[in-house]
Amino acid sequence: MVSVKVGDKIPDGVLKGSSNPEEVSACAVVVNYPIHEKWAGKKVVVFAVPGAFTPGCHIQHLPGFIEHYQEIKAKGVDIIACISANDAYVLDAWGKHSGASGKIEMLSDGLAAWTGSMGLTKDLSAIGFGLRTERFAMYLDDLVVKYLGVDAKGVSLSSASTVLASL
Ligand code: BEZ
Repeated sequence: MVSVKVGDKIPDGVLKGSSNPEEVSACAVVVNYPIHEKWAGKKVVVFAVPGAFTPGCHIQHLPGFIEHYQEIKAKGVDIIACISANDAYVLDAWGKHSGASGKIEMLSDGLAAWTGSMGLTKDLSAIGFGLRTERFAMYLDDLVVKYLGVDAKGVSLSSASTVLASL
C-alpha cells in the first residue's frame, strides 16, 4: 500500500546511475546515486516504470518526458529522473536507445528497496518479472513531495503532461 503522500519528505536511499557514455552499445559505468545528497535543495521530477523496454513504458511513458523535457525544465525543474527495478546496465541502454541521454537520469532501484520504502512496489511474479516499481510520478521540492500520481493501469496520473500541469 502506498505510504508516501504529498507533504512528506522522501526517505533516503541509494540508487544506481551511470555515467552515460554516448555510444549505445557501450556498457554503462555504474555509479552510486545517493538520493538525498543528489536532490536536496533541488526541484526534481521523478517517474517510475515497471520495466524498461516494456510497451507502456517504452512507447508511452518515457517518450512523454523526452517530448516535454524543455517545458518541464522551463518550470524551473533541475532534474528529471526515471526509475525502474531493472539493473543499471539495462536502464543505461534504454536511456541511450530512447534519446533520453543528457535529459533524463536513468536510475536503477534494482531490488525496489527505495520505492518499497514508500509502498510504491508491486509483485509482478505472476508474469515472471518479480518485484517491480509501481508506475508513478512525483514532483519534489527540496526532498518534499509536492505532487504524486500513481497509475494502477495505463499512463495517466504519472504522465509527463499531467506532471507538467501540476508544476
Ligand atoms: C508495460 O507495457 O508497460 C508493461 C508490460 C508488462 C509488465 C509491466 C508493464
